[in-house]
Amino acid sequence: SGMEAWIHDIADAGSGEYWEGTKRRPKGGTGKGIVSFGAGWAFAAGDCGKTLRTEPREIFGNSNRDGEDIIDNIKFRLKTKKSTVKKLLSKGFEVNEENIAKELSDVVGARIVCSFISDMPSIIDKICNYPMLEVAGFKDYVNNPKPNGYSSYHLLVLVPIYYNGNYEYVKAEIQIRTKAMNVWSSLHHKICYKKETTPEVEEELRALAGLTNEIDQKYDEIYRNVKDNLGNDVKSKAVKKLVKTINEKTLC
Ligand code: GTP
Ligand code: MG
Repeated sequence: SGMEAWIHDIADAGSGEYWEGTKRRPKGGTGKGIVSFGAGWAFAAGDCGKTLRTEPREIFGNSNRDGEDIIDNIKFRLKTKKSTVKKLLSKGFEVNEENIAKELSDVVGARIVCSFISDMPSIIDKICNYPMLEVAGFKDYVNNPKPNGYSSYHLLVLVPIYYNGNYEYVKAEIQIRTKAMNVWSSLHHKICYKKETTPEVEEELRALAGLTNEIDQKYDEIYRNVKDNLGNDVKSKAVKKLVKTINEKTLC
């Protein structure tokens, strides 16, 4: 059918798996063609992924908190062709490349994991203030978790891709989570996201999401207490004293 032909014409975007920001995109998709359409305006989701992969250092490079980076890791993923087609059909759109670019916002995805809840606002702030990205949408599943317990911030961003003398925007979804939220999400994904489960299993996972939030709050509280009581100066003096003691012991 005509639809089949369209599906055939769409190049594979990616493997659907998240990969480390520092590593190259794994094989399992060309990254080309998924958002290329129309005469004179063709660009690749792969390029968008590349921009998000190289920009974070610029975005977050100066985000040191007492000399540590507030970002634990950043991963990227390009949606598979299969799941791209499925999502378009489920939204009632014809499968063509124009609709992929126009109607879907998560063909390109980035996932930022940080340690503490209180680091999240500054991460969002840095993304919002970064001149090369337009933030076009925001979903707050941290203060308003999904009914199943899912918690993260989602930013819909527009990434400018230079093509044929022009900048064209590609939509991308950036998820921001704490490590604890990431554990819940990845295990929830394995156990029941888009799979059949029982109400009992769902209830247990909802309860675990509540516990996860308590853990996040507790770590954040402890962290902020330690930070308040142990200023930079005090901390480095304590470390110097410790190093001196160790050195003396080693010399004896
Ligand atoms: P999708 O069809 O899943 O893309 O949902 P959506 O387009 O309505 O967007 P939403 O912001 O709700 O979710 C987008 C992405 O967030 C998903 O692809 C997942 O990566 C993640 N996500 C959302 N809800 C859940 C959830 O309940 N569990 C897990 N593990 N991940 C979720
Ligand atoms: Mg999605």
